[in-house]
Amino acid sequence: MNICIIGGTGFVGTYMVNALASQGHAIKIITRRPECHRHLRTLPTVKLSTIDFFGSKILERQIDTYDVVINLAGILNPAGQNTFELVHEKVADRVVQATQAVGTPRLLHMSALNADENAASQYLISKGKTQKSVLATEGLNVTTFSPSVIFGPQDSFFNRFASLLKMMPVFFPLACANARFAPVFIGDVVDAFIHSIDNPQTYGKNYNLCGPQSYSLYELVQYTAQQIDSSSRIVPLNNFFSKPLTMMMDLFPGSPITMDNYNSMKKESVCSHSMAEELNVKPRSIESIVPQYLSGKDFAGQMDELRKQSRR
Ligand SMILES: NC(=O)c1ccc[n+]([C@@H]2O[C@H](COP(=O)([O-])OP(=O)(O)OC[C@H]3O[C@@H](n4cnc5c(N)ncnc54)[C@H](OP(=O)(O)O)[C@@H]3O)[C@@H](O)[C@H]2O)c1
Repeated sequence: MNICIIGGTGFVGTYMVNALASQGHAIKIITRRPECHRHLRTLPTVKLSTIDFFGSKILERQIDTYDVVINLAGILNPAGQNTFELVHEKVADRVVQATQAVGTPRLLHMSALNADENAASQYLISKGKTQKSVLATEGLNVTTFSPSVIFGPQDSFFNRFASLLKMMPVFFPLACANARFAPVFIGDVVDAFIHSIDNPQTYGKNYNLCGPQSYSLYELVQYTAQQIDSSSRIVPLNNFFSKPLTMMMDLFPGSPITMDNYNSMKKESVCSHSMAEELNVKPRSIESIVPQYLSGKDFAGQMDELRKQSRR
């Protein structure tokens, strides 16, 4: 199949591209900075392209002969002109318009768990508006996916906490310690996308994607500390202290937590069932995967091994 991926250079995208390329599909990745992702060009069936999403009919020409379009573009925090409205709404709307205009047979769209126009965070509001409008678009064979936090080699969850714990080896104040997540393995997210491509049962639906178990943020950070042998004392902060700490941290560029992240954690990021049966994925636990990459083993080797495990 010919598959065009927007957001194919990121954490999820790179795993997805590798998985699809290993199955022999021809892939075009649309990226703003092809020069930063030359490693993806080394895959024989992958090419990179850069476009102006808002130029007249440019996106339409790029996807015209493609069987599947996958939109993974997203940001957790806005940076300069790259706002939630631009990435999650305007770019996503253009993708929908273009796929509709050229009659792309299949569109897969990445949303987020708890995406909702009435959510407390701008991230979830922007994701929610688009999820709703994408699913309501007439004449599209579309499926949307809403994962909880995604883990895997190079994730920005366990790896981020591991780095922070190393920076704070004695005392680790943790905001939103009671927030709950059901972390889902990147290989399972990618399998859910791939298995849905040819399955008409999944058309017009949103799928929440969770791992097999839910944990509090405190439990997940404790778990991370155990994996990296950190003896830092993790101090869970209650709501009274979490908010001012987050407000203070939000003032620093590159802060590990923003007020919008804080607001998104007000609602538990967990599912009633980890994954719908028709996706044909048996979600893996953090315990079966995370130790492999927090151990600091060679990254390329880990990716290969995890992909092999995905195919088993
Ligand atoms: N990671 C998680 O735990 C998680 C959980 C739930 C949902 N999600 C969603 O999953 C998707 C992928 O997440 P990720 O962790 O892989 O993110 P990531 O590593 O930050 O990658 C984001 C991708 O979005 C693209 N992008 C950013 N701004 C763009 C713009 N203005 N126009 C076009 N493309 C743009 C980037 O492409 P270029 O820089 O190459 O242009 C990049 O490939 C996102 O939609 C995210 O919201 C992620």
